Amino acid sequence: MPIIAPSLLSADFLNLASECNMLNESQADWYHLDVMDGRFVPNISFGPMLVEFFRKATKKTCDVHLMIENPGQYAEAFKKAGADILSVHIEACPHLHRNIQQIKNLGMQAGVAVNPHTPVESLKDILEDIDLVCLMSVNPGFGGQSFIPHTLNKIKRLREMIDEQSLKVKIEIDGGVTLDNAKAILEAGADVLVAGNTVFRSADPRAAIAALKSL
Ligand code: DX5
Ligand code: ZN
Repeated sequence: MPIIAPSLLSADFLNLASECNMLNESQADWYHLDVMDGRFVPNISFGPMLVEFFRKATKKTCDVHLMIENPGQYAEAFKKAGADILSVHIEACPHLHRNIQQIKNLGMQAGVAVNPHTPVESLKDILEDIDLVCLMSVNPGFGGQSFIPHTLNKIKRLREMIDEQSLKVKIEIDGGVTLDNAKAILEAGADVLVAGNTVFRSADPRAAIAALKSL
């Protein structure tokens, strides 16, 4: 069964308590928390303070996706805020291996996120050191965009790389996941589905989560 990670970016921020209650009562597995700095991506979202509130609101895994420059400067703050998984972008990290070591030394699981244009082959020499690859299936910065179909090829190639090395790295797909394309995404080899609009713009978010979970 896939891991379902609703992206709180699409939640109603005036009603976060009820959004969290809905997720907690749903079959959602993780909270996907999108941190944006207005530099690495053209949008600004939220930082450790809000992650800390989400941490208090749930026992589910807090999966924090950093879309920021110089993520090493903030890793400790996100650990203190309660992140379980911390993902950094390969494009923002000239010393990626150091960033991954730092995240693991802080006691979190480590993820690497890759933009649509970045080949999965560039992960070859970091794969054995990480827990998760967050494959962006849209250009990061905004919820509600359309899935880039070429991502399916990238999922298949990454799946092969992971299986060849007998690793347990999870493949997370982030951006434009819908009830229509989720099946093909899973068949290509994904483990984790991030879903923002598909969950929070649904008339029945809990049913949307259940539908994704049952694929
Ligand atoms: C985009 C974020 C995504 C986004 C997903 O930069 O990383 O997590 O919120 O939202 P949807 O599912 O609406 O594309
Ligand atoms: Zn994300």
